[in-house]
Amino acid sequence: MLKCHSKFMLITLLSMGPSLTGFSQARKGEPIAPIEAPTGYHKAKVELGKKLFFDPRLSKSSAISCNSCHNLMTGGSDNQVSSIGHNWQLGPINSPTVLNAKYNIAQFWDGRAKDLKEQAGGPIANPKEMGFTHELALEVVESIPGYKSSFSKVYGTKAVTIDQVTDAIAAFEETLVTPNSPFDQWLLGDDKALTALELAGYQNFKAKGCVACHNGPAVGGGSFHKMGIVKPYPTKAEGRFAVTKNPADKQVFKVPTLRNIELTYPYFHDGSVWSLEQAVDIMAEHQLGIKLSKEENNSIVAFLKTLTGDQPSFALPQLPPSTISTPTYRKEASLTPTKSKASH
Ligand code: HEC
Ligand code: HEC
Repeated sequence: MLKCHSKFMLITLLSMGPSLTGFSQARKGEPIAPIEAPTGYHKAKVELGKKLFFDPRLSKSSAISCNSCHNLMTGGSDNQVSSIGHNWQLGPINSPTVLNAKYNIAQFWDGRAKDLKEQAGGPIANPKEMGFTHELALEVVESIPGYKSSFSKVYGTKAVTIDQVTDAIAAFEETLVTPNSPFDQWLLGDDKALTALELAGYQNFKAKGCVACHNGPAVGGGSFHKMGIVKPYPTKAEGRFAVTKNPADKQVFKVPTLRNIELTYPYFHDGSVWSLEQAVDIMAEHQLGIKLSKEENNSIVAFLKTLTGDQPSFALPQLPPSTISTPTYRKEASLTPTKSKASH
């Protein structure tokens, strides 16, 4: 590290150029842009959304929260082939990360939700995920005074609505970005942030054509493409066809972000691939119709690992306590509320 004893000296060092400091101008014209740290957000709303994201009481079992399948300790996903939801049911598709999801052109593999707010209503009422209904989730929230007062502070209304619940969760998710990865440091001008191998990997990533689909700040998330353009990829998933009913959209998926990809295994919508090396080879073969050499593959994998940024870090939210009138629905047989025990 260079030691600078005065502002003047720092300016002198910087003006001496990259050879001495290893730091040059931010790179222009690259197809990937750095992730920006969140600014100017509504603090109280984000704090409320954070609580809801971690609150298992929004599920029928009171055991499953958004964080169960989008674990912020493991890259915003669950490292499962497909997620385990209500009553141990296995979902049909791999859980994508919520990190940097705000950059997605639309949400879900098939893009059926237009934004984070629309998406957030889905899992609560999905029988295979949180297994609840919006009405019952609201009943739970309404029965918790700590939530009531937070909602009325943020939204200024008496009754809590599902619109407010999803709005607050989306506001929290907007802050779940991962700036400052080694690759971003390089993009911002730090020549020493990447090794020669990683840089070669980035050049290969561009030269081989990966960047045609994986670009922008999230290195993906910005377009829909067929999985298996050159060589068919066997899958039962319909892809975007389920939304558009256009036969050309069969097996078309939202191009996933490659940010933090080292953390979010297993890969692909079917969660079938556990190693990044193999995922890269499959992409080259099925999307580009090429075979990468071992060296090319190694370098691209090394580059992909430089996309891991600062993970969300904050104090664990303290959830407002339930009351005696908070319903619980632990008995699968009926939806009749059983009052919670006085031990609450
Ligand atoms: C039981 C596991 C499970 C739970 C609980 C769950 N999710 Fe998901 N989530 C998934 C799966 C699986 C998908 C992909 C589904 C698809 O694309 O069809 C997904 C997709 C998403 C996406 C879209 C990401 C993208 O790249 O398209 C977001 C955002 C998201 N979930 C947020 C949430 C929020 C917020 C909650 C809580 C209200 C939540 N999830 C609860 C499993 C879960
Ligand atoms: C024509 C567009 C396109 C090209 C070119 C392309 N990809 Fe992809 N990539 C996709 C799509 C679509 C998916 C999702 C496929 C699926 O899940 O079935 C994907 C998925 C991935 C995944 C797994 C992501 C995850 O979270 O599961 C990795 C890793 C990846 N691509 C890397 C690459 C690399 C490296 C290259 C170049 C060798 C490349 N891609 C070229 C469209 C493309």
